[in-house]
Amino acid sequence: MLSGIQPSGDLHLGNYLGAIKNWGSRAEEFDCYYFMADLHTITVRQVPADLRRRTLEQLAQYIACGLDPEKNTLFIQSHVPAHAELGWILNCYTMFGELSRMTQFKDKAAKHADNVNGGLFTYPSLMAADILLYQPDLVPVGHDQKQHVELTRNVAQRFNHIYGDVFKVPEPYIPETGARVMSLNAPDSKMSKSMPEGCVFLMEKPEDIQRKFKRAITDSDTERCVRYDPEHKPGVANLMSIYSAVTGESYERIEAEFDGCGYGQFKPRVGEAVIEHLRPIREEASRILADKAYLESVYKSGAEKASYTANKTLRKVYKKIGLVAR
Ligand code: TRP
Repeated sequence: MLSGIQPSGDLHLGNYLGAIKNWGSRAEEFDCYYFMADLHTITVRQVPADLRRRTLEQLAQYIACGLDPEKNTLFIQSHVPAHAELGWILNCYTMFGELSRMTQFKDKAAKHADNVNGGLFTYPSLMAADILLYQPDLVPVGHDQKQHVELTRNVAQRFNHIYGDVFKVPEPYIPETGARVMSLNAPDSKMSKSMPEGCVFLMEKPEDIQRKFKRAITDSDTERCVRYDPEHKPGVANLMSIYSAVTGESYERIEAEFDGCGYGQFKPRVGEAVIEHLRPIREEASRILADKAYLESVYKSGAEKASYTANKTLRKVYKKIGLVAR
């Protein structure tokens, strides 16, 4: 199993509930690789010091969220050169037309019209390399990355068709619960750091978290009760799914718990539950971040383990396509 997150912003509740929280328990079943996708991040201009700081913070937060570095391989993408190397090769097996159809490219190109660079366009080939190097069965991603995993499958199949079975064709894995945490103040869009008022960051101060929950958009329906109805009451459904994810309660139990309560009582209770859930994570992440020697030992040994697996695949690819062995 393999996944990556870009250190382009601070980790938030959507990253945590939709992804990282579910990863920890996978270590018993799978050989798990998780990385900070810093090479992907530079497809959009970054402030160098911020990128470096966020990469390390993200690693500390992964660990604090329950990814034990003894049981999972945690690494920084740029520390494993095989990613960039296979990325180039796969560029030569990915079609211009395919890349042009990627919705993330179209969105980002529109958003950063002054910097539509080659890396932004070929981003999916690098992501295909990230994945195929490790021959994973499953690639847990959010809905927005499904198209990229499908492209990865197509590229792998194309390559295998020419050279024989080199790559395992991976499956996207989109977890059912908590997969889609929506923005607190715009429940029709995914929670995102680009809309900070609707976004709860893992390291955020409790009072800021509570303010965001109190201001969360509920619904303009007349019944004003806590009932799970994503189609007609998307704001309430989003708060319920967050509450369910942090407390483990079912929607029926939550409806019963808040029977007769208005949204004014419901919202701060969700805020409180989130704050209590995040508190130990935030404290542990700060402690780990202060221990630079420990962090360094984690990312060094992670890169070593990852390189070992990645280089095996890379050598096979070099040989198949006719590059002289190093
Ligand atoms: N593109 C992913 C995102 O923006 C991050 C990513 C990069 C990734 N490489 C990956 C995810 C490989 C899964 C597997 O969210």
